[in-house]
Amino acid sequence: MSNDAVIDQLNEILKHEWTGVAQYSQASFIIEGQWREVFAEKFQGDAKESFKHAQLIGDKIVSLGGVPVAQRNDIKQSRDLTEVLQNSLAFESKAVEMYEKALDLAEGNRPLVIFLEDILLEEQEGVEEYTKLLRDTQASEQEASQRSAG
Ligand SMILES: [Fe+2]
Repeated sequence: MSNDAVIDQLNEILKHEWTGVAQYSQASFIIEGQWREVFAEKFQGDAKESFKHAQLIGDKIVSLGGVPVAQRNDIKQSRDLTEVLQNSLAFESKAVEMYEKALDLAEGNRPLVIFLEDILLEEQEGVEEYTKLLRDTQASEQEASQRSAG
């Protein structure tokens, strides 16, 4: 395992987690209407999860002898709830991909593998959660169109 390659990938992950802190916080700030009651808190929770992951990854980068980045990528934002859910699913899916790549690089370092696997599980939960939320949306749209057609 090359330490530099792992540190580089962890820094890419850290950037992504900082992006999550900003993107989910922004989503929780701007959501209005009846769904605000449900989703403002949900998005805040996801922002906190990204921050928790950022803390874990930042600490690990220093442990491995690297310097954690303070930059983030551009965020995606929308006032359309379905679009926000789609952006969230894309965000979580990218996180899964990034942790899987880090796991490939960490091969042979058992503690690092376990550390990354624990976070990967939470990212996968995010993918599954947003997939289900979007499935419900599409299902109810289909139902509505079937009702009006029948
Ligand atoms: Fe994360």
